Amino acid sequence: MNGIRIGSEAHKELFCGTFVDSHRPFRPEEIFFPELEPEALAIIQLLVRRYGISIEAFDSPAPPKDPVWTFLSIGYGECIDSFFAFGLFELGRRCDYFPAALTDIFDPIVQEEARHILFLVNWAAYLRAQRGWVTRPIFALRLGAVIAGQLFEHARHAASFGGNGSEEGFEMASHGALGDISAREFLELCLSENDRRLRRYDERLIRPSLVPCAVRMALKLMPRHRARQSMTTSLRAEKK
Ligand SMILES: [Fe+2]
Repeated sequence: MNGIRIGSEAHKELFCGTFVDSHRPFRPEEIFFPELEPEALAIIQLLVRRYGISIEAFDSPAPPKDPVWTFLSIGYGECIDSFFAFGLFELGRRCDYFPAALTDIFDPIVQEEARHILFLVNWAAYLRAQRGWVTRPIFALRLGAVIAGQLFEHARHAASFGGNGSEEGFEMASHGALGDISAREFLELCLSENDRRLRRYDERLIRPSLVPCAVRMALKLMPRHRARQSMTTSLRAEKK
């Protein structure tokens, strides 16, 4: 890998150093939230009401029994979430549906996820390389099981969002204001945003590849001539 060996001390210093150096403190109490026009405010209230977003008090979680594997499992879940979040965020930004002053505030949070998943895949590769030849396949198998578990959970969640009598999954039920976008265009946007957000870090580091590779493969199989399939407008009726 461009003069650096995965699992070496130099690799560890590189991915840890990149993580520390690229840290941008994000303090919610220091954010300057813009004054919003009544129209923009109404849109946000509509979304909150539509999706029933509420913040409930929750107890502090119990410390994990196995922090390393818990961290790896959560991290690979983030790899899946972040890939699509990058595309969705850009979609929201481009459509001018949300005030730019508001999306600008949240851009660093989205970028933070890129840092997290970059660290995660390098750390996992380092841990695997650190194992001896006997335990390395066991680590790889366990990691594969963790990733498969996350993929299954995400697929199950995506399917469950299509409930309430709808046959469509959550992913296809976005607001009409996001515009007409085909599944292909959305996936291509996710790919380009994923590349853009991860490009800024040291090229010697490993990039998350599972979801991007799967999506690239899916795009090859997806017919190009397919009629434009717009995302559903589940909120449109409510807005009327
Ligand atoms: Fe994260």
